[in-house]
Amino acid sequence: MKMKTSFFTIALLSLTISLSLPSLSLSQRCNKKDEKILFRIKKSFGNPDVLATWTRDTDCCSWYSVQCDEYTDRISALTIFSGNISGHITEAIGNLPYLETLILRKLTNLTGQIPSSITKLTSLKTLTISWTNLSGPIPSFLSQIKSLASLDLSYNSFTGAIPPELSTLPKLRTLRLDRNRLTGSIPESFGNFTGRVPAIYLSHNLLNGTLPQTLGQVNFTWLDLSRNRFFGDLSVFFGTNKTIKAANFSRNMFEFNFSNLNQFPESLSVLDLNHNRIYGSLPATLKELKLQTWNVSYNRLCGEIPAGGSLQKYDNTAYFHNRCLCGSPLPAC
Ligand SMILES: *[C@@H]1O[C@H](CO)[C@@H](O)[C@H](O)[C@H]1NC(C)=O
Ligand SMILES: *[C@@H]1O[C@H](CO)[C@@H](O)[C@H](O)[C@H]1NC(C)=O
Ligand SMILES: *[C@@H]1O[C@H](CO)[C@@H](O)[C@H](O)[C@H]1NC(C)=O
Ligand SMILES: *[C@@H]1O[C@H](CO)[C@@H](O)[C@H](O)[C@H]1NC(C)=O
Ligand SMILES: *[C@@H]1O[C@H](CO)[C@@H](O)[C@H](O)[C@H]1NC(C)=O
Ligand SMILES: *[C@@H]1O[C@H](CO)[C@@H](O)[C@H](O)[C@H]1NC(C)=O
Ligand SMILES: *[C@@H]1O[C@H](CO)[C@@H](O)[C@H](O)[C@H]1NC(C)=O
Ligand SMILES: *[C@@H]1O[C@H](CO)[C@@H](O)[C@H](O)[C@H]1NC(C)=O
Ligand SMILES: *[C@@H]1O[C@H](CO)[C@@H](O)[C@H](O)[C@H]1NC(C)=O
Ligand SMILES: *[C@@H]1O[C@H](CO)[C@@H](O)[C@H](O)[C@H]1NC(C)=O
Repeated sequence: MKMKTSFFTIALLSLTISLSLPSLSLSQRCNKKDEKILFRIKKSFGNPDVLATWTRDTDCCSWYSVQCDEYTDRISALTIFSGNISGHITEAIGNLPYLETLILRKLTNLTGQIPSSITKLTSLKTLTISWTNLSGPIPSFLSQIKSLASLDLSYNSFTGAIPPELSTLPKLRTLRLDRNRLTGSIPESFGNFTGRVPAIYLSHNLLNGTLPQTLGQVNFTWLDLSRNRFFGDLSVFFGTNKTIKAANFSRNMFEFNFSNLNQFPESLSVLDLNHNRIYGSLPATLKELKLQTWNVSYNRLCGEIPAGGSLQKYDNTAYFHNRCLCGSPLPAC
């Protein structure tokens, strides 16, 4: 049990102890309920070597991959960045009520699904399950974890559709669902985030369909839809009143006449359109943009590249493999 001691005594004590027996000074912090749950997690991970420090004779706050809150001494973070873990995520994980950060990464033998008990983690801000072999659908119950600021489920084997409910997470700043095997289209609700609009990464999936018109009203700062099977046009993002900043639409089947777009959001600074089926020619208004990244290679564009603005800042690879595009940096027309 914890004793009430003055700050000075604690400081002196911990200094003395840390010079002699470091584990003792911490041995009273660990909450026994948390410790019990961590042992269940260790077991569900197949008692791996990477968790060898998780033993009864040491304080769980000092265990590898574990962090305790400095005031409550409850487990606030569990962050495993790699390891030879074989098993699944146990339902017991929902019984770490103070958990704010859960990161499980580079664990290729971690399989199964995200347990529904995770919704009990009402303080969870960061959830990263990445480079694992978790599979099945991305559960819509994740939208119940209202505290989430970052949800990263990239590089897994998830299938099925994107749950529309994710747009109701009020604090979400980053949503990464890239590198899975997701199908279906982007939910209409993504034009309707109830909180702030997160940066969204959906690349390298099997998503298809046209983009919902509702996306046009969203102030995206970063939208990565690359390497999917989307089709249709991108006009919802372009126009004077639009505010998109950075977008990667590359390697899809977008098909539209570029000549018909002539007003671009001033905010636009990154636009990657390579490997689509875009035709027509490049409008002169593109010269007004301060583009940091720009690529329209591998499309079906024709005509002269407008001279000026940022458009000649790029080498020919930003423009090559089009039908009949010409002019600097490509050969003259
Ligand atoms: C995954 O499990 C297989 C089969 O048990 C084993 O051979 C392999 O070494 C494991 N790999 C990792 C990275 O855990
Ligand atoms: C992972 O652990 C399994 C079982 O404990 C073992 O057979 C395998 O060799 C380990 N793989 C690596 C890459 O350490
Ligand atoms: C995990 O994923 C890797 C690569 O995606 C794959 O080669 C491996 O067979 C998978 N392992 C299991 C246990 O599913
Ligand atoms: C989108 O892909 C699914 C399979 O993932 C398919 O059933 C559906 O027909 C496709 N939709 C369109 C419009 O191509
Ligand atoms: C968008 O939000 C409004 C108000 O919250 C709601 O009435 C509407 O159904 C939502 N639309 C979609 C497509 O989710
Ligand atoms: C998008 O940004 C513009 C300009 O900053 C602002 O006027 C507008 O209200 C924003 N829209 C939403 C839905 O937040
Ligand atoms: C866009 O996505 C493609 C494929 O995922 C990637 O190779 C490229 O670097 C990305 N472009 C930008 C500007 O991030
Ligand atoms: C842009 O916004 C202004 C003011 O809200 C509005 O009058 C105008 O019609 C809008 N233009 C377009 C192209 O949506
Ligand atoms: C694209 O649109 C422009 C302007 O509306 C038109 O002149 C041109 O013929 C169109 N190109 C194609 C290939 O349809
Ligand atoms: C444009 O994209 C193509 C295809 O991915 C790539 O080969 C090229 O290097 C890119 N060029 C620039 C300037 O980004």
